[in-house]
Amino acid sequence: MTATPLLEVRGLKKHFPLHGGLLGRQTGAVYAVDGVSFTVNKGETLSVVGESGCGKSTVGKAILRLYPITAGEVLLDGQRIDNLPASELRPLRRRVQVVFQDPFSSLNPRQRVGDIIAEPLVNFGIAHGSELTDRVAGLMDKVGLPRDAVKRFPHEFSGGQRQRIGIARALAPGADLIICDEAVSALDVSVKAQIVNLLSDLQDDLGLALLFISHDLAIVEHLTHRVAVMYLGKIVEVADRATLFSNPHHPYTRALLSAVPVPDPTAPRNRIILRGDVPSPINPPSGCRFHTRCPFVFDRCRAEEPLLRDVGDGRISACHLDEVPAAA
Ligand SMILES: Nc1ncnc2c1ncn2[C@@H]1O[C@H](COP(=O)(O)OP(=O)(O)O)[C@@H](O)[C@H]1O
Ligand code: SF4
Ligand SMILES: [Mg+2]
Repeated sequence: MTATPLLEVRGLKKHFPLHGGLLGRQTGAVYAVDGVSFTVNKGETLSVVGESGCGKSTVGKAILRLYPITAGEVLLDGQRIDNLPASELRPLRRRVQVVFQDPFSSLNPRQRVGDIIAEPLVNFGIAHGSELTDRVAGLMDKVGLPRDAVKRFPHEFSGGQRQRIGIARALAPGADLIICDEAVSALDVSVKAQIVNLLSDLQDDLGLALLFISHDLAIVEHLTHRVAVMYLGKIVEVADRATLFSNPHHPYTRALLSAVPVPDPTAPRNRIILRGDVPSPINPPSGCRFHTRCPFVFDRCRAEEPLLRDVGDGRISACHLDEVPAAA
């Protein structure tokens, strides 16, 4: 028997309509997320990676119900959350939290840090009075903020410390899933490592699940259990960390990984340079969406979309090259 995943995303689509002309009729759509499925288990980190614009943030925002989805289903502990009426969203808001790249824009500059962290505890009726003060102090300890930060304002802190404030606020209501959208991308290398270590420690302590959205594969390698690679609104490969980083399979994953700097520049590597830019999600290429840039493209790729299939080692990949030719 397999356990129910904490989060399950099935066939998720998010198309943003484009309007034009005098009458403002719909003239097309941005196919930002176009049929994406994955699961995140309790206590697990799944990273969603891919170049800028491939739909990573849209996946996160769709799960958070920041806008309605075009198609598909999102389940938390086996319960649909994509179709809950607004009046029933409180449990979702409590259990699924988000930490964005720029904590400054999501932290009220006129609110003291103590009040920022206390706010979800008050809003969800979790604590008040001296218990509230104790809880806030406990959360600050957990994320490594000094106690005197309570009375200070966000602008008095460095980027890394502000991210700690954002993480404390996300933990406050007792979240069991945190969506980290480029949460460490803007930080200096050493600070990045500190925040990644903090997230790993919190995961171990609290059994947190993380959906770690990042274009930065080097950082993902340090904290993830599994990786889903996206290209132009689709997932092209899902594998566990060791499998993906030691032996990337899909041509796009191989290209992405070959661009990641390695600590030893003399180590042998087969660098794959991607041709051209990422095509527009308004008019994605036919067949395999990667065909305009793939070094291995052949006729079928332009006509037929490859589906995700099991390619061994617990990995799925979507490429026509994976199809075993029928025995003669
Ligand atoms: N609210 C929106 N309206 C129209 N297009 C959008 C909107 N949000 C994102 N997009 C487009 O959807 C695509 C995916 O965006 P996004 O999910 O932010 O990518 P990523 O996070 O991978 O960089 C991009 O082409 C982006 O311009
Ligand atoms: S299906 Fe074709 S174009 Fe797409 S990744 Fe595979 S070989 Fe490349
Ligand atoms: Mg993004």
